[in-house]
Amino acid sequence: MIAPTRFLAALLALTSYVSASLNPIEVKEQEFVDSKTGDRFVLLGVAYQPGGQSAVSAGSGDPLSDSKACLRDAALMQSLGVNTIRVYNVDPTANHDECVSIFDSVGIYIIIDVNSPLYGQYLNRAAPASSYTIGYLQHIFSVVDAFMNYPNVLGFFSGNEIINAESNGESCPPYIRAVQRDLKQYIAKNAPRTIPVGYSAADVSSVFDQWAYLQCNIAGDNDISRSDFFGLNDYEWCGDASSYTISGYNVLIENFGSTTIPVFFSEYGCIVPLPRYFDEVTTLYGPQMRVMSGGLVYQWSGAPTDYDLVSVNSNGSANLLPDYDTLSSKFNMLSVSELTSQNSSATSLTPPTCNANLITTSGFSTDFNVPDQPSGASSLISNGVSGANKGSLVSVSATSVPYPVYQTNGAALSSLTIQTGATAANYPGAVKNFASASGGSGSSGSSGSSGSSSSSHGAAGAAATPFVKGAGAVAAAALGVVALL
Ligand SMILES: *[C@@H]1O[C@H](CO)[C@@H](O)[C@H](O)[C@H]1NC(C)=O
Ligand SMILES: *[C@@H]1O[C@H](CO)[C@@H](O)[C@H](O)[C@H]1NC(C)=O
Repeated sequence: MIAPTRFLAALLALTSYVSASLNPIEVKEQEFVDSKTGDRFVLLGVAYQPGGQSAVSAGSGDPLSDSKACLRDAALMQSLGVNTIRVYNVDPTANHDECVSIFDSVGIYIIIDVNSPLYGQYLNRAAPASSYTIGYLQHIFSVVDAFMNYPNVLGFFSGNEIINAESNGESCPPYIRAVQRDLKQYIAKNAPRTIPVGYSAADVSSVFDQWAYLQCNIAGDNDISRSDFFGLNDYEWCGDASSYTISGYNVLIENFGSTTIPVFFSEYGCIVPLPRYFDEVTTLYGPQMRVMSGGLVYQWSGAPTDYDLVSVNSNGSANLLPDYDTLSSKFNMLSVSELTSQNSSATSLTPPTCNANLITTSGFSTDFNVPDQPSGASSLISNGVSGANKGSLVSVSATSVPYPVYQTNGAALSSLTIQTGATAANYPGAVKNFASASGGSGSSGSSGSSGSSSSSHGAAGAAATPFVKGAGAVAAAALGVVALL
């Protein structure tokens, strides 16, 4: 029994949060839309895993549990025009209320990967059956519990690059659908709203089969194991000599043009050469690629540092990197009204029924029998994970960034703050917490070529770089061939 006065206080507190929070995003066939305004939602995102994707240990917190760092990064992202972050590894026992509320208050949505690299917390691509256990489900369900009450959680990734070679295209796909079924059942039973569940794919030869396999509807399964969205990690546009066709983006659009679920880049941003030009931005968000729902630049900060937009020091101070300025100038060229207007003919599409004929890569799974749940799963779904940590929004009172931040020209940003109270997604140009240092026009790419490593431009850079991502595409581009997937 709650005493009336306490009840009233709780109600007042609740209404004040609700009035200043983001509207949940929902899936309408091939588009994301704001559930209240109906505006289309296109991701202008960054991958957010300070410390690196694999820097995680039990009980040590995660990127959404350090509110001072979140405040600094939210202020910089708000100015950039970011509206989505992706967090790869979370600790479901940590308190995320302040960070998630900070991002909510500046118009930023969050996609959470439910897996982690810790033992028992991921589907092992080499042994999917034996890693699909009740303990694994307990972990991913507790991640749902931790985030399901936040209105700005855009979705959950059931997996990232589980299929990363032809050899695991046979055994893994049914398990990805199994995990999606389990997450969607858990959300339907335990969460206050429908939260989309999708997959983040590696850029391998079977990518269109992965999409076809995951978006189709299994007769009688009532959409429960289908992906609600499809992310592709794509590093095919490299340097200022690439284009819509050299990058192979045209091939993506030929195939994804008929998609019945939102498709976006769950990572993008080839780093050969550095600093980047980000010329792909205006194409990705332009008329040719309107079927796509945007993408997430890899990455904000952390290891491997070559991909960073911002360099964060151990004392919490941060330096904006040239890539931040270049991305900002490209984002500022986009037409927000075009991005947010719906394509009405794209919202009445029926997914194909799953069928072996949808699959073209030999050896890729044509098995649409979703594996049975491990014993104990149905009671876990009905009863919820016992003792789970469940977050909820809190009011954001601290708005001043407590760390020094330096621009690319060395100037310190004084009195950097966030502007709270967002009720819709952040977009470029909406809020400027500071004037960008170089603020280049972007169209010439001049800010991208003035850095320290201009000598690595082109194919020589590809050969010299130790990074796998994008190197193949540059080699292909150098040979004058279209970078086919
Ligand atoms: C924080 O660390 C950076 C890098 O080591 C250093 O340059 C800077 O002076 C430090 N700032 C403060 C306020 O200690
Ligand atoms: C709207 O969506 C339909 C169906 O996907 C597509 O064929 C058409 O090209 C889209 N129109 C625009 C303007 O994007």
